[in-house]
Amino acid sequence: MAMDKKVRDLINDQINKEFFSAYLYLDIANFFAAKGFDGFAHWYEVQAREEQEHAMKFYAYLHDNDEKVKLGAIDAPATAFKTFKAAVDAAYKHEQYVTDLINKIYEAADKAKDYRTKNFLGWFIDEQGEEEKNARDLVDKLALFGEEKQALYMLDRELSRRAE
Ligand code: FEO
Repeated sequence: MAMDKKVRDLINDQINKEFFSAYLYLDIANFFAAKGFDGFAHWYEVQAREEQEHAMKFYAYLHDNDEKVKLGAIDAPATAFKTFKAAVDAAYKHEQYVTDLINKIYEAADKAKDYRTKNFLGWFIDEQGEEEKNARDLVDKLALFGEEKQALYMLDRELSRRAE
């Protein structure tokens, strides 16, 4: 059965949004690397790769349902961070935005009685809980001891151990 057009278009857009997320996180990694914080940079590089995997899940889903994928231009991340706090805050805000996008696709699938897509989106709904938590943890940790050089160094070491 052909997919509902609105659901299909939202999923198609989401491919682009996930690649943009990867771009945003790469930009944040870039910011931290330039400051010499390789642990933070590594953490955001791993996050950028996760986002590419998310994009590919949506891409494969459209193909699996015999729908064409239309690839659009990926926006440049318009961010010039001035502080560590600004960078981690931007990531947290972005994840909240992505949760909202996933919820909107779910709402459209629900309206279209597209049960398969609702099931498929279940993984992303859980994943967004994780993504928001991870992003929020960094905001909280920086708020706790972002002013202390030694603690920041330890945090950088901890983040350098994030597995793929
Ligand atoms: Fe693909 Fe960070 O959500």
